[in-house]
Amino acid sequence: METINNTEVNSMPRIGDIAPDFEAVTTKGKIKLSDFAKNKWIVMFSHPADFTPVCTTEMSGFAVRKPEFDALNTELLGLSIDSVHAHLGWVQNVRQNTGVYFDFPIIADIDMKVSKKYGMLQPNESETSAVRAVFFIDPKKKIRLIMYYPLNVGRNMDEILRALEALQTSDKYKVAMPLDWKKGDKVIVSPPKTLDELNARIADDTLEKVDWYLAKKSIN
Ligand code: BEZ
Repeated sequence: METINNTEVNSMPRIGDIAPDFEAVTTKGKIKLSDFAKNKWIVMFSHPADFTPVCTTEMSGFAVRKPEFDALNTELLGLSIDSVHAHLGWVQNVRQNTGVYFDFPIIADIDMKVSKKYGMLQPNESETSAVRAVFFIDPKKKIRLIMYYPLNVGRNMDEILRALEALQTSDKYKVAMPLDWKKGDKVIVSPPKTLDELNARIADDTLEKVDWYLAKKSIN
């Protein structure tokens, strides 16, 4: 295991890896990742600490927009290096203050086991808190997209949902998504790989073509 500032850290997981398995205690009981949310997508995210301002805005954002994650067949899974007791106190505090209820499991990673496995512990940023990470895990438990944000900048919920929908749409239609793609926009068809495909592409009047290698189609 690598050591940074005398803190042991695992190597970072990569896009395309099977999500490292773990068992953990959460605000909704014990979970084992490999048994959690079968046949669903998982958005697993860490926050630096309970009862802190930026984290409260982010967790509230996940809670308020949970119906949109539900509609995308996606379970939310939070994490911080805090105890379940602290998590429960924070959930109750936010519910009392704002009426927003964090109705998804939050891992109590007090021994940092999960944080270290997922590269969430980045000791040059903080030796005691997880950074703001987001892992998009598909129903085969493959990591499909990773975001890391520092302690002082909150994430963008629109972008998290947009990226999730882009991944799912890309899988469904076997297409790629252009800059700033959002639901309803045209998608990129993969470039031709043979001369026959090139000729078919040139002849296809249904596509919006910038050139033979950059063409878009509507999927609506
Ligand atoms: C926050 O969520 O506000 C925060 C947490 C840890 C360090 C800095 C800010």
